[in-house]
Amino acid sequence: MSAEIFDKANSLLAEIEAYDITDAASLEAFRIRFLGSKNVLKGLFAEMRNIDPDRKKEFGLLVNKVKQAAAGRHETMSGSLSSTSSGAVDVPDMSLPAGNRHAGGRHPLTVVQNRMVEIFGRLGFAVVEGPEIDDDWHNFTALNTPEDHPARDMQDTFYVQLEPAMMLRTQTSSAQAHEMEKGELPIRIISPGRVYRNETISARAHCQFHQVEGLYIAENVSFADLKQTLVYFAKEMFHADIKVRLRPSFFPFTEPSAEMDITCLICGGPGCTVCKKTGWVEILGCGMVDPNVLENCGIDSEKYTGFAFGIGVERTAMLYYQVDDLRLFFENDMRFLKQFRSVLQ
Ligand code: DAH
Repeated sequence: MSAEIFDKANSLLAEIEAYDITDAASLEAFRIRFLGSKNVLKGLFAEMRNIDPDRKKEFGLLVNKVKQAAAGRHETMSGSLSSTSSGAVDVPDMSLPAGNRHAGGRHPLTVVQNRMVEIFGRLGFAVVEGPEIDDDWHNFTALNTPEDHPARDMQDTFYVQLEPAMMLRTQTSSAQAHEMEKGELPIRIISPGRVYRNETISARAHCQFHQVEGLYIAENVSFADLKQTLVYFAKEMFHADIKVRLRPSFFPFTEPSAEMDITCLICGGPGCTVCKKTGWVEILGCGMVDPNVLENCGIDSEKYTGFAFGIGVERTAMLYYQVDDLRLFFENDMRFLKQFRSVLQ
């Protein structure tokens, strides 16, 4: 007698697995047969009393397995039928407005750098990128800063190799030397990129930052051309009535040299930590290319003259966006970066 009931249970199990469920109606028929209030499994439980006592436990487990198989199959089939059904619930309404999408945005430094490239592009400056790891010649010596020149102290350098000396470039001016060596004149380039110095990190300084270098070499280039180019840049970058001043300065590769300040756009004049309470912020160094530099790079300094400048990208971005701590640009804190997300320039 027991064997017969076991067979019955097993054949119900096989039936459950093979049951042809293709639509809501067959699903419902399945449910009534195996899970409804008068389901066939109840008959199995009723047979319990006819089982040999030593096989009761085995039978109980089998019946449970049949029950679970029925419940499991019902659940999966009702899930898959509803996801493939053409019921209105599952068809997206294409007329609804689109939901919010989290678009990425460019980093504020990239936005500012691209803007600089674009402004100088209008004046005919082409972009040339130099290497970030460079040799002593291009970063210093060719630029009139031989070894033991005191001006090297201005830029505390990260060396990656001592013999021969290789370093993380301390200034994008190194790109000037690479470009001049090519010997193709006239030259009108800008070179944006990252530079490195062993500086203590603070709100105004970092060990890595960005510069946009500019170089123009041709016949009869004058300081007036330099000044006009930079004033044009400042007005285009910020606004037309920004105030600009050039202060005499020193750089080994330019003679004469100057630094350019603009009115502090963070405090608007009265003085803050960024302008050190002067109302002016330095944004670039510049000057007429020293004849020594031209000669070092094989250019006839009797025939050609030129100007050069190096703009700090972080400093410009701080003023452009009114950010008073340069470190924010490097921390990648989403709360900070998200504020620039809509700017896709
Ligand atoms: N390389 C200089 C610096 O990092 C900036 C600079 C000054 C670049 C004068 C120039 C220049 O091309 O002519 O401080």
